[in-house]
Amino acid sequence: MSRRDLPIVPYRPEVHAEALFAFVAKVLGAEVCAKRRQVIETMHTTMPGRDRFPLRHVIVDGDRVAGTLGYMPADFWIRGKRTAVRFTHDLLVDPDYRGGGLGRLIVENAFALGDFFPGGMWMTDPCRKIHVDAGFQDAAPLVTYSLVLDPASFVARRGMPLFKAAAGRAALTANRAVALRRARRAASRDGVQEILRFDANTDAAWEKLVPGYEITRVRDAAYLNWKYLAHPWLPYRGLLATKGPDPTGYLVWRLAPDHAAEKRAVVTDFLTARSDADTLRRLLARVVVEAAAAGMESVSVLTTQPWAVGLLRSMGFLPREARNTWVVAGWQNVIPGEWLQDTSPWHVCMGDSDGDIWTGSN
Ligand SMILES: CC(C)(COP(=O)(O)OP(=O)(O)OC[C@H]1O[C@@H](n2cnc3c(N)ncnc32)[C@H](O)[C@@H]1OP(=O)(O)O)[C@@H](O)C(=O)NCCC(=O)NCCS
Repeated sequence: MSRRDLPIVPYRPEVHAEALFAFVAKVLGAEVCAKRRQVIETMHTTMPGRDRFPLRHVIVDGDRVAGTLGYMPADFWIRGKRTAVRFTHDLLVDPDYRGGGLGRLIVENAFALGDFFPGGMWMTDPCRKIHVDAGFQDAAPLVTYSLVLDPASFVARRGMPLFKAAAGRAALTANRAVALRRARRAASRDGVQEILRFDANTDAAWEKLVPGYEITRVRDAAYLNWKYLAHPWLPYRGLLATKGPDPTGYLVWRLAPDHAAEKRAVVTDFLTARSDADTLRRLLARVVVEAAAAGMESVSVLTTQPWAVGLLRSMGFLPREARNTWVVAGWQNVIPGEWLQDTSPWHVCMGDSDGDIWTGSN
């Protein structure tokens, strides 16, 4: 049988789990595999939308799993209409089978499902190429903004020539001083508290903020708790902003894991009303102050909203050079084509796809 004739079947944990994780362990090592397995298993047991079969396909060769592709079901608000969508994620082919077209085959199979895939993010170049060859289309790349909190370490890791390094360090040190002073002032104002779990009672408040964005993920307590605050090992932290008794926004972030080479704190999710720079400033200020106290080298945020970019710039954040690939499929009857090139109708966060939930594992 040619490799391209191997069957692609929906993943059934009771049948395929041992073969799947045997090959994941072979590719990624036992420790990373064990952590990945925990995340995959929480998807099957607690992820909202897990009834939307299949959550994963596997390519089987006898009792072996030769390749796999996961799907994350999600709900989006698109011009006020709640719409079921999927992300592709976790594409992996056993090294024994690579170069035989299996990666492309399993992504073509996903494309043929015909669903709206509003973006696979954090892809490697081969993964992006495979998606595009299978029919996905490139959307405008996403930009992450970073505030450098430890200029010496930031510059040293980039290995710049001496003169350039000294100039860069001086500029970043001045930027940090202003940014920290402003953040401390904003963080000293009331109205931001740490939360251990999102409360479903605040979902109605989040729903009221959403119509300001033409397209964004449904960000309710069930999703935010599953994805972040109940993550099996990554210590995400939740912040709630209020004005008087009313919730006006939230933010989810985490410090870099202890073993990470780059001490980068990341903001994985946030929501405020469109253009509510005051609430977002108070939330981000708290992150900046705590990340600096924890010795982080930088803090990063991804946003597609021009007003939020303006705020980030005023707080000392600068665009990172790397651009994040983003591909979409099945959009034709769902969103206007312009939204592939103009990201301003979207409210997209760093954690919207699968990327960050694996991050502590490598
Ligand atoms: C990426 C991966 C899934 C590809 O699987 P595969 O079965 O070998 O891919 P295919 O044989 O279907 O190749 C499809 C195309 O991608 C290209 N490609 C595959 N791996 C590549 C690589 N490492 N570098 C550059 N191009 C690559 C192939 O050349 C082929 O292009 P062509 O059709 O123009 O000849 C596999 O290498 C893998 O599991 N890598 C590690 C995990 C990973 O990176 N996953 C993506 C996470 S976002």
